Parts: sequence; structure tokens; C-alpha cells
Amino acid sequence: MKETLFNATQIGPMKVSNRFAMAPMTRSRTDQPGDIPNDLMAKYYSQRASAGLIISEGTPISAKARGYSLTPGIYSEDHVKGWKKVTKAVHQEGGKIFIQLWHVGRRSHSAISGSRPLAPSELKEPDKVFGPIDDKNFGMIETELPKEMSKEDITCVLKEFKVAAKNAMRAGFDGVEIHAAHGYLLDQFMRAPINKRSDEYGGNIEARLKFPLQVVDEVCKEIGADKVGIRLSPFVMEGTQQEDPEIIELTYELLSELNKRNVGYVHFSENISRYTEATLEFRQKARDLYHGKIIIAGKLTPERAQKILNEGYADIFAFGQPFITNPDYVRRVKEDHPITPIDYASHSTFYGGGEKGYTDYPFISEEK
Ligand SMILES: Cc1cc2nc3c(=O)[nH]c(=O)nc-3n(C[C@H](O)[C@H](O)[C@H](O)COP(=O)(O)O)c2cc1C
Repeated sequence: MKETLFNATQIGPMKVSNRFAMAPMTRSRTDQPGDIPNDLMAKYYSQRASAGLIISEGTPISAKARGYSLTPGIYSEDHVKGWKKVTKAVHQEGGKIFIQLWHVGRRSHSAISGSRPLAPSELKEPDKVFGPIDDKNFGMIETELPKEMSKEDITCVLKEFKVAAKNAMRAGFDGVEIHAAHGYLLDQFMRAPINKRSDEYGGNIEARLKFPLQVVDEVCKEIGADKVGIRLSPFVMEGTQQEDPEIIELTYELLSELNKRNVGYVHFSENISRYTEATLEFRQKARDLYHGKIIIAGKLTPERAQKILNEGYADIFAFGQPFITNPDYVRRVKEDHPITPIDYASHSTFYGGGEKGYTDYPFISEEK
């Protein structure tokens, strides 16, 4: 029988009740000071628990990993306590939730990260991030020239990933997604124009994969490979102006390494920022090289997702903006109810603020 988006599947031993994932989305509604997850966030995520899998907003693994103000952390006891409210609320509604572990690398400013941003090399490109513009207000600010990571910095960040993964389990998450997409730290190490290191972490493809794979290994050792996913965006140019002609070849190499390690899923982010289309050749090769679950995201419609499922190129489909305005997106699609569209008003409440544009979108049962 044909698989549909409404059929259950598994990530490792974990059951996922349908093929819809809620894509990771920064919403910047933490309690201050301390960037603490709160009751409002618990409500928002639990409203969306009918997605087979929720992937949390990007969550900095340390203060230095931070590139955006107001995003939640997973490095203090208060963060763990705050996230417990979220995971408990999602589980009560029968959902599953992974946390997206995030280090932004050079895409930051010391006004946000507390010290010079870290990067594989001391290279900056024009780029803006969300940070303080004065004592009270936040807005887009230009990134700062980063510091080339020393061996000690590398050891320190590996430890931060390990502790963050451990904290995530203590906070009740079902697993973690390592953010290796969108021009953030791990993506920076992988891309030749950004990683100009002359030590064992730079140079050929194998060297550029060394640090990302060390991160994967640390996290897998801590919590078990089947609870680990990784987000990649080889077809997206985000945070960089410079093409990397080797990025697809590097991704193939990475996929075979991830396969050896049995990580639970690989999540491809597509169709955002400056991008090219993922090719069918890439999709087929990804399947051949990597045998865990594949998630695809990026301006999907249910029809497009079903087509890719039929073709056999992915197992789970992550939707971002549809879940912002439709907490019961899965039911609406299944029962053919109208979908609340994203409009300009929703854009202005994407980042920051309170309930408005966050927890006040109606369920279909409330509309009738
Ligand atoms: C408000 C907003 C915040 C986002 N924050 C993140 C994030 O924290 N981490 C991430 O990997 N992607 C982030 N994304 C990208 C989404 O995960 C997703 O890939 C993108 O929105 C495309 O999917 P869609 O067309 O279904 O929305 C964000 C997107 C939006 C709209």
C-alpha cells in the first residue's frame, strides 16, 4: 500500500506518528535576563504537538555560541528547568520534540556573544544579525571580524556540544538536531571559502569535515546516535557570498560518515535565502549513501512532500511557516480544512513579542 504523509514511521526506536515535522524556527520569546524558556513557549510548542516531530528553535549551546538576542539557551540550570516545561507540555499532548543545538560561529557580534565571535578563520563577509542597538532596543547589526579558533577553542566548543546534549536529555527532549546548516559554525568549517585553516581542520574535504564529525561523535557518545539528527544545507548560500564548488562532494563524504555512525536522521534545508534546486541525482545519492531517515524542508506543500515521499527520496517533511499560523496543520491538511496563510501581520510577530502571532492562531475546532 502507498505510504502517505499520515502514516507513522520511526527514528531509531522512536515512533513518529506522521511524516510532518515542525521545522526549527527562532521566535525570540524567552524570559529575560538569562534567555530562559517559559510557559508561553510551552503553550506554543504543545499547541503544535500533532506534528510527528517538533524540532525546536535554534538553541545556543553556550553564551559565546549566541548570534541572536532573546533566543533560548541550553547551558544553565535555569535553561534546563525552563525547557522541562516545554518537553512535558509537548509529551502530554502526545508529541515528540528534538532540540536544535546551535553555534553561530562568525555570524555574531561581541555585543551578543560577550566576546569576539569564533570561526574557522579570521574572515568576515557582509552580514547582519539580531542584537542590541542601544540599552533597550534590538535590531539588525553588522557582524564583527571573528577570531580564528585555537585548538583550545575547538576543545572547548566540543565540550559545550557534549554538555548541551546532556542537558537536553535532562530537560526531557527526545533527541537533538545538530545545526550544521545556514552558514553557522559547522557549515563554516565545511566550506572552503570560509575555512582557510592550515592545520588538520582545514584544507581538503576530509580535513574540513573533521570538526563537524567530532561534534557528531561527542553528541552521539553522550546520548546515543539514534537520538541525533543533523541539519545540512548544501544547496543554500546563507551567511556567505562565495560559492564552494566542492560542497556537494563534501556532503556525499559526510553522508557516508553519518551512515557509519548510524545517526537517526539527516535534515536537508532547501529553498531559502540564495539557493539552487537540489538535483534528483543528489537525492538519489543521498539515499544510497545514508540509510537513516531523511527529512526535507523548504517551502514545501503537502502535495510536493507526498510526491517526494512517493519517489522515495525522503521520509519526513518539515514545514516551517505553515506551523506558525496553523497549530493543527496536520489535521487541516488531512481533513482538507482551510489553511491560515502567512501574511504581513504574521511576519511582524515572527521574532519577539508575546502571545500575539505566537499562541493566538486558532485551531479548526475553534473556527467552526
Ligand atoms: C521565523 C523563522 C525562524 C527560523 N529559524 C530557524 C532556526 O532557528 N533554525 C533553522 O535551522 N532554521 C530556521 N528557519 C528556517 C526554517 O526551519 C525552514 O527551513 C524555512 O522556514 C523554510 O520552510 P517553510 O517554507 O516551510 O517555512 C526559520 C524560519 C522562519 C520563518
